[in-house]
Amino acid sequence: MEEWYNAIETAETAEKLEEIRIAVFGKKGVLAAEFEKMKTAPNDQKAGIAKELNIHKGKLTGLFSERKAVLQTLELERAMKAEAIDVTLYSPTSQRGALHPVMETMDRIVDYFAAMNFAVKTGPMVEDDFHNFEALNLPKYHPARDMQDTFYFKDEMLLRTHTSPVQIRTMMSHKPPIRMIAPGAVFRRDYDLTHTPMFHQVEGLLVDKEGKVSFANLKFILEDFLRYMFGDVEVRFRPSFFPFTEPSAEVDISCIFCGGDGCRVCSKTGWLEVLGCGIVDPNVFEAVGYKNVSGYAFGLGVERFAMLIHRIGDLRSLFEGDIRLLEQFK
Ligand code: DAH
Repeated sequence: MEEWYNAIETAETAEKLEEIRIAVFGKKGVLAAEFEKMKTAPNDQKAGIAKELNIHKGKLTGLFSERKAVLQTLELERAMKAEAIDVTLYSPTSQRGALHPVMETMDRIVDYFAAMNFAVKTGPMVEDDFHNFEALNLPKYHPARDMQDTFYFKDEMLLRTHTSPVQIRTMMSHKPPIRMIAPGAVFRRDYDLTHTPMFHQVEGLLVDKEGKVSFANLKFILEDFLRYMFGDVEVRFRPSFFPFTEPSAEVDISCIFCGGDGCRVCSKTGWLEVLGCGIVDPNVFEAVGYKNVSGYAFGLGVERFAMLIHRIGDLRSLFEGDIRLLEQFK
């Protein structure tokens, strides 16, 4: 028996220990054989032999489970060492990702207005008719609704066609004064060189006491913002129409490709249209229950900015996820 004690205690592997288990405790193992022998022993010795054998059996069983636990721990340690991954290891082939050009442009726009103390607000992409149209002075059957080809759901719900509904949500949940921008995805039924069904806008809104907000304030901040984005450009305000602002303007910068001489990108005009803006229409304030206030608002398309900054010709290429294109924007 002594040799088996030794064998168990020195077994190096789980397989070796298993062999020993079969040899000791198995049906044809040593213990079974000893108990078998006992049957032919003289009757008066049987009890003594049985007692001794059971003591051996108990000790061997204890040793066995102790050794088994030790080997399992060793095996676990070995496996952990062998399979360890050094995440700090430098790999010369590893590739760094980068922000998508649209998101990078959006971040730059947000950075400017955040520095000017505008709060960043968000709202739902699935909107209702009230926030997307009605409260923005676009009643049902108003012809200006056709300016924005809308994706509709049942029950007057829709995919927001602009981020202007976030203005409405913010004014309805906060008291004036307000200084906010709303960056986010918007949706329209459109698809060509410069339009995709999903694109991004940044909406801006500033509201303060009546008489405190002027078109001059709006002009100042947009000029400063556009020079921050495009460098040393001329900025011009052209009278325009939006239902939610009165007066309204569209804003152009001098063409960054030809410097204003006229080229293909600016259709020989020397100007590029980059955003819409105006003084908030009183009907909008009425819809949200604001009294004795004045404000300005503006809205821009982020993809348009990204296309101009990066000289991208076809907007659709930005959304195809082609790694060869995206790698150029690292
Ligand atoms: N919501 C307009 C659009 O999607 C953009 C816009 C224009 C927003 C003028 C404004 C604004 O707040 O004053 O075309």
